[in-house]
Amino acid sequence: MLEKTLFFPVIFSALFIQQITAQPEYPIGAIFDTTEDAQRAEQFFNFSVEYYKKQEGIRTTFVQRIERIYRQESFEISKKLCILLRNGMFALFGITNSRHIIDSYSETFHMPYISPSLPRLNSNSRYLLHMRPLYSQAMIDVIHHYGWTSLSLIYDSDEALSRLDMLYQASDEKNIELSVDLKRISDPNDAYETLRHVDSLAHASTRYIVLDLTSEEAVSSVLQQIRDLGMNRGNYHYLIAGLTIDQDELRGFRHGGVNITAFRLIDLKNREIAKFYDKFQKAIGSKSKKSKQIKKGKVLKMQSALMVDSMNAFVYAMGTLDTGKFRGTIRRRKFYNNGSEGISCAGSLASSTVSPWEHGEYIMEALKKVKLQGLSGHVEFDKNGFRKNYTLDVIGVSLKTGPEVIGSWNDQTGLSLAPVTAVNDDIISNLANKTLRVTTILTPPYASLREQDATEDQYVGNDRYEGYCIELAAELAAHVGFKYEIIPVADEKYGAVENGTWNGMVGELIDKVADMAIAPLTISSQRERVIDFSKPFMSLGISIMIKKPEKQKPGVFSFMDPLSTEIWMCIVFSFIGVSVVMFLVSRFSPYEWHLEERVTGMTVSNDFTMFNSLWFSLGALMQQGSDISPRSISGRIAGSVWWFFTLITISSYTANLAAFLTVERMVSPIESADDLARQSEIAYGTVDSGSTKEFFKNSKLDIYKKMWTVMNTSSDVFVPNTQAGVDKVRKSKGKYAFLLESSMNDYHNQRKPCNTMIVGGNLDDKGYGIATPLNSNLREKISLAVLQLREKGVLAKLQKKWWFDKGECGHSDVKGSTQNALTLSNVAGIFYILIGGLGLSMVVSLLEFFYKSKTEARKRKTSLSSAMKTKARLSIRGSSETENGGYMYSPPQYKETLGYNTHTEV
Ligand SMILES: *[C@@H]1O[C@H](CO)[C@@H](O)[C@H](O)[C@H]1NC(C)=O
Ligand SMILES: *[C@@H]1O[C@H](CO)[C@@H](O)[C@H](O)[C@H]1NC(C)=O
Ligand SMILES: *[C@@H]1O[C@H](CO)[C@@H](O)[C@H](O)[C@H]1NC(C)=O
Ligand SMILES: *[C@@H]1O[C@H](CO)[C@@H](O)[C@H](O)[C@H]1NC(C)=O
Ligand SMILES: *[C@@H]1O[C@H](CO)[C@@H](O)[C@H](O)[C@H]1NC(C)=O
Ligand SMILES: *[C@@H]1O[C@H](CO)[C@@H](O)[C@H](O)[C@H]1NC(C)=O
Ligand SMILES: *[C@@H]1O[C@H](CO)[C@@H](O)[C@H](O)[C@H]1NC(C)=O
Repeated sequence: MLEKTLFFPVIFSALFIQQITAQPEYPIGAIFDTTEDAQRAEQFFNFSVEYYKKQEGIRTTFVQRIERIYRQESFEISKKLCILLRNGMFALFGITNSRHIIDSYSETFHMPYISPSLPRLNSNSRYLLHMRPLYSQAMIDVIHHYGWTSLSLIYDSDEALSRLDMLYQASDEKNIELSVDLKRISDPNDAYETLRHVDSLAHASTRYIVLDLTSEEAVSSVLQQIRDLGMNRGNYHYLIAGLTIDQDELRGFRHGGVNITAFRLIDLKNREIAKFYDKFQKAIGSKSKKSKQIKKGKVLKMQSALMVDSMNAFVYAMGTLDTGKFRGTIRRRKFYNNGSEGISCAGSLASSTVSPWEHGEYIMEALKKVKLQGLSGHVEFDKNGFRKNYTLDVIGVSLKTGPEVIGSWNDQTGLSLAPVTAVNDDIISNLANKTLRVTTILTPPYASLREQDATEDQYVGNDRYEGYCIELAAELAAHVGFKYEIIPVADEKYGAVENGTWNGMVGELIDKVADMAIAPLTISSQRERVIDFSKPFMSLGISIMIKKPEKQKPGVFSFMDPLSTEIWMCIVFSFIGVSVVMFLVSRFSPYEWHLEERVTGMTVSNDFTMFNSLWFSLGALMQQGSDISPRSISGRIAGSVWWFFTLITISSYTANLAAFLTVERMVSPIESADDLARQSEIAYGTVDSGSTKEFFKNSKLDIYKKMWTVMNTSSDVFVPNTQAGVDKVRKSKGKYAFLLESSMNDYHNQRKPCNTMIVGGNLDDKGYGIATPLNSNLREKISLAVLQLREKGVLAKLQKKWWFDKGECGHSDVKGSTQNALTLSNVAGIFYILIGGLGLSMVVSLLEFFYKSKTEARKRKTSLSSAMKTKARLSIRGSSETENGGYMYSPPQYKETLGYNTHTEV
């Protein structure tokens, strides 16, 4: 009991104190469609309510109540509005297509309605605040500027006709005869018929077309159809009148030759806006998981930005008001209007019985006096609640240029179109005063975040980064004389065409988000078409990385190693071959035969039996010699070439032997791309979707084609990035070779655990260049500076510093120790000489044979052929025993006639 009596006063006084000290939260209402665009705007609205609560100097805070409209029926909209009114609100926000209902409610109940939707020209409600500026005058000015007298107007709402009316009036005033061909489209997603009709009239001459469509979706849909129908040719000039253009979408038009002019209210790439958007994303990301899809969607749209500005304007206006006036409005967290709770919307709107929002007019007056700098530029209103003193960017696309800002339109000063080239001149002339935005990509050793110590923010600005490219940028800046700011590329990509637009650093240069890219950006013809490159600052090519082979200790049979197996085989065959030739030559050459005295008597014999021939060759091979030696010329020829052969072979062997017995060797299984292509044991691959993969895919060389087929058909040889590839090499026990750019190869070989190495030469040849936007005057200065830095050796110094001085592996000893066995190709020459010599000796021995036969035939007066037969018989039989049975005893004259040298000393 005691507790209860204490409890109530405490609660009561707490509430009371809150009433006095804290400002009450004023309710505001909002109404949104369920289209994607409106939903996104709702998120931004929610965010901005919170955002402005936290801003400094805010005395009033708000709480929003949101109603969604699912069906565009006046009954439903009225019902939702009545709910909002009954709950009470200080002002109404929101986006919906059914403007006229809200307009009339706001007028009837004196409820300020702040809307980012397109203003209706004929609306004269006193309680409307139009955040979106009118663009009719801008449209008229551009049409007059280009001097169009005949044009087609493609439109989808009646509003466009009132703008057309203004155009006619303005033209009349200037005495311009204007003829307009009107084409209304009912469904922006199917405007083909209408467009085709426009096209059919247009073939002969230049055609001017104004697109006046209400929504961003409608514009992109019609633009897509224009491309589908090929109406993006050179003889078209489109003016996109609304403020509803997505700049990215225009980029695809620069190749068709068509001219497009468009207006832009909000520069989404603007720094401030980007910052705001970041905050928004963070808030959304931390709040809910559900909103992920929207979060991932495109950047800030115009409606959403205007929604934020609406809230900003309202907060600003409320800040100027005397809150004392609202004291009676919020009582006990309830809303009172002129004494009664809520705003009742019972009864007919027309009846005079409604009681309007008592402070509506007061708030509206304050809103119209707002002057602030919002996301959509300068925000200021005229007495009818329309924007004034605002500036629209004029965007232009023509052949190979744009989309880019070609001028601006201000409602006070009108249209001013700058000559297109002025933008570029600007950069160069003010170089000293301008801070260039330099984009790069964070991949070591080119650029990386410097490691921060415990004290946060130790490094600021460009000092936050380190690497080759960062130092190169500093050198270039000193050389050319510019200030710069390094901004790593947002999407962490180099730049490739995706869905028709360039991403990565190339995309940033095209969009002029960056003025220069100092990064390992490969110069390619495809990129050269859209951006400019300086002279290359680094040359490189595709190279092979393999795991370092294990070191081998010399084995017991390492004496075999200096010569390759094939050479050993060849030596054995040569040995046998030479012996056989020696044997044959001695047989056929008469000079090798001699008389020998034996116990049995004199006999004609030949030292070079098969066995002796082998012995002779072996003796020569072993550098020992033997006690027989050839006497015939042919035999001596054969003997000399063999001696020569053994001399060279043995010297080479000896020279190599020491190295092979003492040094631990690393035998690399792969030496070149050819080796890779030839084998199937070691898999090889590249980074998936990179220039290296493209190289193999598009190569016309047989060997690379073959490698591509192998890579293409094997699974998981492609890796997502370089690091993954290097890791794969390290893990695969030598069964994987990675193909990558040589600079990265060198770098990773210098990283721990130091077990990879580069083999072979580069497969192709390319360079990294510094990129600038197309036609930028910076390019020449940069090119010149790069050349000077190269000549001075600065580039080489930088490369040494970032690759090797910072390497973790020390200088590699790989090259010295990979001594290889002599292969056949190293010593093929001596085999040729050997074979040639043996051939020669056989020819000579035949000549000797003929010569002897001939002289003998003359002496013995027999025919040549019979003399040859005799001799041949001797040669084939190999001994004289059976020759007529009479050779055993060879009388001296016989010796003469036979012509054999006597071996025996007399
Ligand atoms: C915005 O806030 C209101 C009320 O706090 C909530 O009902 C609504 O779901 C929110 N909308 C979005 C898109 O988060
Ligand atoms: C497009 O613009 C270029 C130069 O900006 C001009 O030479 C050409 O005539 C224009 N084409 C049309 C159809 O207006
Ligand atoms: C407030 O109510 C009184 C009568 O109750 C009426 O005379 C007066 O006009 C109302 N004020 C407004 C602003 O509607
Ligand atoms: C228009 O806006 C600019 C700021 O954008 C301001 O400096 C200028 O005074 C304004 N002009 C008028 C006439 O209000
Ligand atoms: C740089 O700005 C200063 C004043 O801020 C000016 O005097 C100087 O002429 C400018 N230099 C260039 C090259 O525009
Ligand atoms: C590219 O288009 C495809 C299909 O049209 C889509 O799935 C993909 O998300 C798009 N990518 C980007 C970055 O827009
Ligand atoms: C190999 O490449 C061809 C075309 O280049 C492709 O059709 C085929 O599907 C690829 N095979 C594999 C396994 O990827």
